[in-house]
Amino acid sequence: MTRLAVAPGVFHWPGYLSPEAQAALLAELREVARQAPFFSPRMPKTGKPFSVRMTNCGSLGWVSDLAGYRYQPQHPETGAPWPPMPAVLQDAWRALAGYPHPPEACLVNFYEASAKMGLHQDRDELEFDAPVLSLSLGDTAVFRIGSTERGGKTHSLKLASGDALLFGGEARLAYHGIDRILAGSSALLPQGGRINLTLRRVTKPRG
Ligand code: SIN
Ligand code: FE2
Repeated sequence: MTRLAVAPGVFHWPGYLSPEAQAALLAELREVARQAPFFSPRMPKTGKPFSVRMTNCGSLGWVSDLAGYRYQPQHPETGAPWPPMPAVLQDAWRALAGYPHPPEACLVNFYEASAKMGLHQDRDELEFDAPVLSLSLGDTAVFRIGSTERGGKTHSLKLASGDALLFGGEARLAYHGIDRILAGSSALLPQGGRINLTLRRVTKPRG
């Protein structure tokens, strides 16, 4: 398995998941979405919906609405607990994260062809010693990651179906986002689009 060093603390494994593993994970995510339907998060303050739709699995899920960004144990619309994290995701974390405690949250983002995500930091977690691990499925995305300062130098890379990307250590609070989706670049999702999974440790482990 090739691991590319993108920048200090940022690593990329192209094709980490085989085509078979991608199809199996997609089937598990369909079950996640049946139990925890995709919702449209809204920006705090303005209430403007994101162009990306989201759901979660794991003991905690990331949500955003007029009350702010946060992690919570229930789906914001159904009130039900999030479904469990598929074992393949826990395995990927064990293999790649270099962090001894399990992830608690897996945010599932769905991008249609026109969706984007502006540069932001992942900083709603309490534990910054754990990295963020991302897995991509479906159409390729143009991903941008910079420094921990807004306006710093950025690297752009393509994340294709099956790719894993990790940012941790000095890059844990790096600004990152999705510039665009390359429609038609993958046949995994029959209707097209992209799914990105981000696995995170949210709480500080005890003791
Ligand atoms: C995110 O930063 O939440 C998602 C990144 C991605 O879609 O690759
Ligand atoms: Fe993020």
